[in-house]
Amino acid sequence: MKKLVLSFAAASMLSGTAMAAGDGAPQICLGCHKATGESVIPEYPKLNGQNAAYLEKALKAYRDGTRKNDHMNTFAKTLTDDDIHHIAEFYSKQD
Ligand code: HEC
Repeated sequence: MKKLVLSFAAASMLSGTAMAAGDGAPQICLGCHKATGESVIPEYPKLNGQNAAYLEKALKAYRDGTRKNDHMNTFAKTLTDDDIHHIAEFYSKQD
């Protein structure tokens, strides 16, 4: 587990976006989806344990606008393909 978090942090640094050090998800996401993938309020979806391929597809759809949500369209635009891949892998592995 520790190894996963460390390799995720390293990958995040390589991708060049502002990722939270060590907790696996970008800081900007944590106001709504916790670092563990749990939602902050019931209206927001849980991400923990979701299929990585699904999370990746959802984030790309928000980024290119084919899936519409005012919050997510804005936030997904800040993510690179690498970020999306790593976030999806990370959340899929949370309990
Ligand atoms: C302001 C609150 C907010 C922030 C910040 C936010 N999200 Fe979301 N997120 C939501 C809401 C609300 C939805 C559900 C939108 C919908 O109905 O399509 C969602 C949906 C998602 C989904 C799809 C879940 C599913 O089951 O289809 C993913 C993946 C996701 N968010 C990841 C992220 C990531 C990664 C970040 C940071 C880059 C982020 N979110 C930032 C509120 C937020």
